[in-house]
Amino acid sequence: MKNTIVLQAKDLLQRKHQLLVKQAIQDGQLVIFPTETVYGIGANALDPQAAQRIYAAKGRPSDNPLIVHIAKLSDVNLYTASISEDAKQLMNAFWPGPLTLILPKNDRVPLATTGGLSTVAIRMPRHPIALKVIEMAGVPLAAPSANISGKPTATLFQHVMDDFNGIVDIIIDGGPSEIGLESTVVDVTGDTPILLRPGYVTRYMMEQVLQKPISDLSNTKPTGAVKSPGMKYTHYKPKGDVWLIDGPIEKMVDYYHAWERQHPHQFIAVICETEYQSYFPRRVRPLGSISNQNEIAHNLFSALRDMDAWGAELVLIHHLSDEGLGQAIMNRLVKAAGYHIVKL
Ligand code: TXA
Ligand code: MG
Repeated sequence: MKNTIVLQAKDLLQRKHQLLVKQAIQDGQLVIFPTETVYGIGANALDPQAAQRIYAAKGRPSDNPLIVHIAKLSDVNLYTASISEDAKQLMNAFWPGPLTLILPKNDRVPLATTGGLSTVAIRMPRHPIALKVIEMAGVPLAAPSANISGKPTATLFQHVMDDFNGIVDIIIDGGPSEIGLESTVVDVTGDTPILLRPGYVTRYMMEQVLQKPISDLSNTKPTGAVKSPGMKYTHYKPKGDVWLIDGPIEKMVDYYHAWERQHPHQFIAVICETEYQSYFPRRVRPLGSISNQNEIAHNLFSALRDMDAWGAELVLIHHLSDEGLGQAIMNRLVKAAGYHIVKL
């Protein structure tokens, strides 16, 4: 076990703590920091050994590449071989912010960071602490989501402590993540941009900027070859089984009672919109209002993590709208359910 140092935002105003963070990164160590999407587990993106430490700490397969975080838009030129017109338009419109662009990498970026790929994922976050940490480090930070591989993503300081206290060197407490879902990932290496992971920046928003359609590979169920290595691994899964229930809430209530009658000793939990909370007798985790997708996104991973704290053996989740931000929300839920969808 390491002696993990916990810092608050105000600590970063002090020079001694700034130097501590800088030194840790330059020594190839791990620093967890908040971003506007989710918490990230960061290390020097230019140091192959530091990248290896991230994979080891997360238990992440090393062919699943890391996102390189920068604090200055023009730094994208330092780590890429070329930047398409589409990429330029998207970064001008959405950086700093929750958008990751896949670009051809140059020799400065080690293959350990890109999981052996010739492309690199780059994002300029807009969270002030994230930007400050990158600036203090003086190098770009490779930072995947700060969760043990396969578990729901960390969106609260407590989630980070649960997974990494005693494992990483420094954890910076930034409170609850504002958005709660990881960034949108778009491949802009070819003529047509390809959406690989939906997020807060929606496909529609990007098409408005580019004035042309982009293709969408984000909901493809993984079979053999995948464009983004992250697509082929288990994600976001609580310990119990998770089923998505696709149908009107009244039918879900009937299904719930029928299942409970047949399995009286099973711990069944429900995750649903706040308006439907009272439709179920017990063990319900409300996600947020039907009319507030931001609230639902913000609470999603906390709800999934609560299922383990409760000891749920079966989690029934009500299928939500997939309009707008709903595409990103449903993308995470479908994966959490391991593609198990019950149609009613
Ligand atoms: O919001 C976020 O993006 C957070 C915060 C910390 O910035 N980070 C994050 O990282 O979610 P991670 O590692 O959990 O997800 C990165 C995703 C993975 O699905 C990975 O496969 C994909 O981006 N990716 C990274 N580099 C890629 C590349 N060169 N080509 C295709 N996909 C790539
Ligand atoms: Mg992740």
